[in-house]
Amino acid sequence: MTSKIPTITLNNGANTPSIGYGTWQALDEELERALETALEAGYRHIDTAYVYQNEKVIGKVLKRWISNGKLKREDIFLVTKLPPAGNRPEGVVKYLKRSLENLQVDYVDLYLIHAPFGLPDFEGDFPPKGNDGNVILDMSTDHIAIWKALEEQVDAGRTKAIGLSNFNKSQIERILKNSRIKPCALQIEQHVYLQQKELVDLCKENNILVTAYSPLGTPGMNKYFGKRGIKVDLPDILGNPAVKAIAKKHSKTEAQVLLHFYVQQGWLPIPKSVNPERIRQNLDIFDFQLDQQDVKELKSLDAGIRILDFGPFTGVDKHPEFPFKNEKQK
Ligand SMILES: NC(=O)c1ccc[n+]([C@@H]2O[C@H](COP(=O)([O-])OP(=O)(O)OC[C@H]3O[C@@H](n4cnc5c(N)ncnc54)[C@H](OP(=O)(O)O)[C@@H]3O)[C@@H](O)[C@H]2O)c1
Repeated sequence: MTSKIPTITLNNGANTPSIGYGTWQALDEELERALETALEAGYRHIDTAYVYQNEKVIGKVLKRWISNGKLKREDIFLVTKLPPAGNRPEGVVKYLKRSLENLQVDYVDLYLIHAPFGLPDFEGDFPPKGNDGNVILDMSTDHIAIWKALEEQVDAGRTKAIGLSNFNKSQIERILKNSRIKPCALQIEQHVYLQQKELVDLCKENNILVTAYSPLGTPGMNKYFGKRGIKVDLPDILGNPAVKAIAKKHSKTEAQVLLHFYVQQGWLPIPKSVNPERIRQNLDIFDFQLDQQDVKELKSLDAGIRILDFGPFTGVDKHPEFPFKNEKQK
């Protein structure tokens, strides 16, 4: 039985559980079964995105739980994201309406700009590619204009809060200077190997929640990208000797140690799993304490290793708003 999940109050006054359920790479019946297990286990923060192509499955499960009285809409903190193909003012209302329809809800709790670069509006597999294999880009992306359109969606009641994902420091600062409604959350790759102190500090100063994506180092990614002929060099965070030793010391799993550490740091992790045992395990992280030495060791693992640098999307780094231009290549 999972202990009670602590909540976090956001800068719009709303509350969210301090850990959520990620859904990237989960589809169809597999996700349907997994989400049933996740809701039974007690997850109440769900992360999806238009580009994950799984909003309809999530909508179907939520509808079932709401109509049979097991859940009320307000019990769930639902997050989805504007696709890069919608990164222009008119794209915001178009894609948010589509997501609401897919999810069978009147509003989402948080709507994020998925990535700072823009692609032309298109239907089909993400991302669109030219004959040269490079991703086709829309170079005219205007963050301030998109943000204003997002603010209008808060006014219209289609989302309770708005935020950013994969934005870098200067891109966030520009939004902060030019916004009527401040970003509520920043969703970034965040794990022991990539602790992003500068961004975390900026978020703390501005009362922006940090959501930690790929908190376990996304170990299943090559299975997913492999279908597209792509292989990514993945660091083995779960296999790190220090993480393993701390897990052994507390009789918990490596994933539980990491997730507990993130929550303790104030980052909201959104681990993805379709495995019933791991779904439950990832939520069962509140019945132990890390000591000062554990925390020190986990902090010292920071190595600036970014896994999801959009590398498989050849040419995307040519976009003026590509966020990781100033980082050294792996
Ligand atoms: N904003 C963005 O651009 C962005 C990018 C990436 C991810 N995200 C969000 O963040 C979520 C999480 O990130 P992620 O899916 O990349 O990676 P992750 O949560 O770090 O890792 C998921 C992988 O770890 C495995 N796993 C889960 N729990 C485990 C455990 N206790 N022990 C061992 N292995 C475990 C899963 O396999 P099984 O399913 O077989 O258990 C899956 O292969 C995504 O699902 C998505 O919602 C957002």
